Amino acid sequence: MKGVIKTAAKNESFSYRLWKYEGAPGELIPLLQSAQEHFGYIPRRAINYIAGVTGISESDIYGVITFYSQFRLQPMGKYVIRACAGTACHVSGAKLIRETIEDELGIEVGDTTEDGLFTLNTVACIGCCSLAPVIMINNDTHGRLTPASVRKIIRNYRKKAVEKTDSIASTS
Ligand code: FES
Repeated sequence: MKGVIKTAAKNESFSYRLWKYEGAPGELIPLLQSAQEHFGYIPRRAINYIAGVTGISESDIYGVITFYSQFRLQPMGKYVIRACAGTACHVSGAKLIRETIEDELGIEVGDTTEDGLFTLNTVACIGCCSLAPVIMINNDTHGRLTPASVRKIIRNYRKKAVEKTDSIASTS
């Protein structure tokens, strides 16, 4: 099944794929991939369209979406946090770091905050194990974390986002 996901054509638009759908087995995954590329995630209305065109029930489509980690049911946040769960980070307290982030943001792994600012995911290894425990926020790496330092980092990102919004509001 993984091969099907990798080889699916990625350059056809969601609506084109829906339009040319012929009931071929295995077409659901490419349809879902197209929807995610188009919307950035798979919104409820896309699931509704797909169910209408394919005749596959919405609950079966949800089942497929939740089975594959590549699919998202929520838009990604402005800041995507990747908390490393690799071995070096694990033995250096990655679990506590992840729990601190969850507590600070009020979300769990895989979720996005209600204000759309943060999405939290885990990854196997970021590749800078000597800095364990490590997280990435978008393209920036933060290492040798403690619960206190990770809270501070997240609060700084939040502050930055609020300042940006304020400066946009004051210039408009
Ligand atoms: S295990 Fe975390 S960076 Fe390698």
